[in-house]
Amino acid sequence: MKINAKRLWQREQQIGHIGDDPKGGVSRFAWTPAYRQAVELLTSWMEEAGMTVRMDPVGNLFGRYEGKNKHLAPVLTGSHLDTVPSGGCFDGLAGIMASLEAVMSMHERGEIPERPIEIVAFINEEASQFLGGCFGSKAMAGQLPLDYTQTCRHRYTNQTLHDAMLEFGMGLDPDNLQGSILRKEDYYLFLELHIEQGRYLLQNGYPMAVVTSIAGIKQFYITINGVSCHAGGMAMADRHDAMAAAAAIACEVERLACNSGSQTRGTVGYISSDPGEQNIVAQKCVVSVDFREHQDDIWKRLYTDLLDFTESECKRRGLTYSVFTTIDARPAHCAPTLIDVIDQCAEEAGVEHTQMVSFPSHDAQQLAKLFPIGMIFLRSLSDGRSHCPDEYTSQEDLAAGTEVLYRTIWKAANEDIL
Ligand code: CO
Repeated sequence: MKINAKRLWQREQQIGHIGDDPKGGVSRFAWTPAYRQAVELLTSWMEEAGMTVRMDPVGNLFGRYEGKNKHLAPVLTGSHLDTVPSGGCFDGLAGIMASLEAVMSMHERGEIPERPIEIVAFINEEASQFLGGCFGSKAMAGQLPLDYTQTCRHRYTNQTLHDAMLEFGMGLDPDNLQGSILRKEDYYLFLELHIEQGRYLLQNGYPMAVVTSIAGIKQFYITINGVSCHAGGMAMADRHDAMAAAAAIACEVERLACNSGSQTRGTVGYISSDPGEQNIVAQKCVVSVDFREHQDDIWKRLYTDLLDFTESECKRRGLTYSVFTTIDARPAHCAPTLIDVIDQCAEEAGVEHTQMVSFPSHDAQQLAKLFPIGMIFLRSLSDGRSHCPDEYTSQEDLAAGTEVLYRTIWKAANEDIL
């Protein structure tokens, strides 16, 4: 093995416990003192690995390991440094620490690649306090409105993101979102190692997988407008019942997902009802919908099919409706040549592996708009649970995945693999 498994594990644990929550697990939120502490420790380790460190205007941290040819586009690798409330030590952090260990072991042996290698720690991917998700990578991909830091507020304190960034310090500039935007030519490709956060690898007995695609996510609300009336007085035929339509839509979401011909996930998480009384026909219902699918054509069809259904259901019942979309992230596909290279590196490292689709979103989904991407998934133990204190990936699996990442980075930094 080319990497130091023990050091990797020890450092993963050390930084992983910054932000330990008295309620259990780790709560390391973006732009907080705990986050700064993690950044400072990571910075010192990056410097120890011979890297020069910088932070972009919103708080994404970069470490650069110089190559023989400074002018070549660097290989970029990393993941996010923030956590969910009472999360674990592996979600996001594993990808940063694996990247760091890869560069660290190169530095120790005096290995200089052709291309520079950069490690990135994305900020606010989980978006636990300033909602939105994948904030840091969205900023890089130019996906945020330029006044975003003024409009986005802390979910509990109501502080603007603008003020939180200024309070955090470290040279952040909330008025310069443009300063975080990357161009396609800035990097050669992007690699992200991440824990699976499900049971697929556990059930199938593999420590790792090469990710082929990241499923698109479409989240939207359907508001249905009907007429409220007496639950006893009004005959069934004379009603305009918003709840009956909402319930039918919820069942249709499940039916569409089950019959898509893919592994589609379709969820109605809640239906809110107005006035929400037992003896009153609902005059207004809001249905939350979440679709996840990795094939582009099915991805598009799910949405149009559900809206066709909604249209006819509302027409039939004399209702009106409107749709408000909150997330519209299309499927992202890993570069086929990069999938092959990761496969080959796992083969050479003697790490058993399979291929799979990622249903959770990751920063790589945003960076796919700019660069070819590749992803490595590691087995989640503890019954596949994640986003909880029990989240666990073993020292052996983390080392195996890091060894594969090391070899992939090295190949990408020295050969023309695309
Ligand atoms: Co994550």
